Amino acid sequence: MDRIKIYFAPMEGITTKTYRRVHRQFYPGVDRYYSPFIVVTSDHSFKRRDKRGILPYEEGLVPQLLTNDPEAFVWGAKKLADSGYEEVNLNAGCPVGTVVAKGKGAGLLENPDAFDAFLDSIFSNDDLPKISIKTRVGFYESSEAKRLAKILSRYPFCEVTVHPRAREDYYNGTPDKEAFDVMAEIIKVPICYNGDLCSVGDVNKLLSERNAIDRIMLGRGLIADPDLAGEIKTGERTGRLYEYLSCLRKEYKEELSGDRDVLFKLKEIWSYVGRGFPDHEKSLKTIRRCSNLTEYDIAVREILTPS
Ligand SMILES: Cc1cc2nc3c(=O)[nH]c(=O)nc-3n(C[C@H](O)[C@H](O)[C@H](O)COP(=O)(O)O)c2cc1C
Repeated sequence: MDRIKIYFAPMEGITTKTYRRVHRQFYPGVDRYYSPFIVVTSDHSFKRRDKRGILPYEEGLVPQLLTNDPEAFVWGAKKLADSGYEEVNLNAGCPVGTVVAKGKGAGLLENPDAFDAFLDSIFSNDDLPKISIKTRVGFYESSEAKRLAKILSRYPFCEVTVHPRAREDYYNGTPDKEAFDVMAEIIKVPICYNGDLCSVGDVNKLLSERNAIDRIMLGRGLIADPDLAGEIKTGERTGRLYEYLSCLRKEYKEELSGDRDVLFKLKEIWSYVGRGFPDHEKSLKTIRRCSNLTEYDIAVREILTPS
């Protein structure tokens, strides 16, 4: 299935620069990685930690910005363009309460007129890099999809990624693929499908039902199975999960200050990877509960063997 473009979804706290580097080193198949959201403050700056995640320029990365201030967005997008990025993504999908309460992320979708004005203000600027957006199908419910798509279609986005859930759904229930279709019908720029694609079977089913789709974004499914993008494209798996996770462990140890933080990161990744090992509940429980890397290593070796 080589015709399909595959993007690695932005996942705050997970798809960091280190994670992306190690994933790229081990597994093929991802055409582009998206950075977790970078906050742009109204006084026009990036937080130091966020900045380290996207600068200097990283080949194959689309940085994502989170703000509800059009001037701050334009400032951030131009700053990133100056650093070499051709495309910048706008986060209009994050459902987290503290983000939405500030009118950011999926909070942008609560008031469609204000959202329209926000986009109008951004696109009235010259010399912007290409702008893409990652969004949902509505704030309260997916019946908002049509109105939202009409707003989006008024602006020259280079691409629109749609996660077909409303903000109120968070990540619960099943994606509303009909609402995705409604948006795909109206939006004339390339549209990317994102949501609950966790296996080759899921992707085959989506593409057989909707053969106009030529790009997909994978999040949790690709964290759980880092081989998935390559397998979707070529039918072949690279394997080497043990080596991959060992490399992440090594890199996190170099990057982070202390085993507690390293363990926290590895446990988060295992909360996804572990789904592929339902017969190892005892060892997975040890990974969830362990308090040092020695216990962690023993539990991992009970599940995986070096190739
Ligand atoms: C832990 C976590 C962090 C996320 N961080 C971001 C983010 O920074 N920016 C964003 O646009 N979406 C973020 N998302 C949403 C994902 O990019 C994606 O849209 C969502 O997980 C649905 O796709 P999936 O079913 O393939 O995982 C996050 C999701 C999770 C679970």
